[in-house]
Amino acid sequence: MDAPRDADGSSRAWQRDHPWAFVYDRISGDSRIGALLWRIGVGSGVDVLHRTAAAALARLEPGATVLDIPCGGGIVLRDLPQDHGLRYLAADISPAMLERTQAEARRRGLTGIETVEMDVGDLPLTGGSVDLVLAFTSLHCFPDPRAAVGEMARVLAPGGRLALSTILTDTPWPYRGVWPVGRAAGVLGPGCSGSELRAWSAESGLVDVRLRAAGGLSYLTATRD
Ligand SMILES: C[S@@+](CC[C@H](N)C(=O)[O-])C[C@H]1O[C@@H](n2cnc3c(N)ncnc32)[C@H](O)[C@@H]1O
Repeated sequence: MDAPRDADGSSRAWQRDHPWAFVYDRISGDSRIGALLWRIGVGSGVDVLHRTAAAALARLEPGATVLDIPCGGGIVLRDLPQDHGLRYLAADISPAMLERTQAEARRRGLTGIETVEMDVGDLPLTGGSVDLVLAFTSLHCFPDPRAAVGEMARVLAPGGRLALSTILTDTPWPYRGVWPVGRAAGVLGPGCSGSELRAWSAESGLVDVRLRAAGGLSYLTATRD
């Protein structure tokens, strides 16, 4: 696919499979040491992500369309039953991450997972065509988180749901320390504060917005009006 719109930004680093992408995938995919490192790193367990994903997926009717962006190495596939009956679009800007997702789907014997290269800032999807957008551990990695929220809201059908998690710029210390390190490494974008995220959600037509902190991560759920 074309270069992301921020040719020199954080998405380009992920697209090229920055070494941190490999390390992150190993951490997030491991239920023992990785899960412990995750808990130490973000101050809450990866189980919060899985509970949030499973609850959102459980509300869907068979045949519903899910956009999992960024899917990374396929972390949410652990929350999908084999007979999920969904149209499941696993999208990411990184071809390497999409290969990891495909491998995860094979390992789990999951069928019906479409892996697609997409830039969250410019989604190649018709407005209102998606029932659920999942975007975990996401906005802090994007060069333009406001555009990403707008695009995710645009593709949602009325009544469709969004569930995401992110590290906010006003996350408490010591987690706030990830910002100078991640920015210097080139894998983090500018991020956003909790109030910016609420404002961008509202301007994008999202209602029933709930934002909850879980250690250094924050989880947002919302509905498209
Ligand atoms: C920290 S990982 C999170 C992956 C997964 N959602 C998780 O929770 O483990 C961030 C992901 O964002 C992807 N990414 C970065 N910029 C992107 C963009 N503009 N569009 C789509 N994906 C992007 C990266 O390739 C990477 O897989």
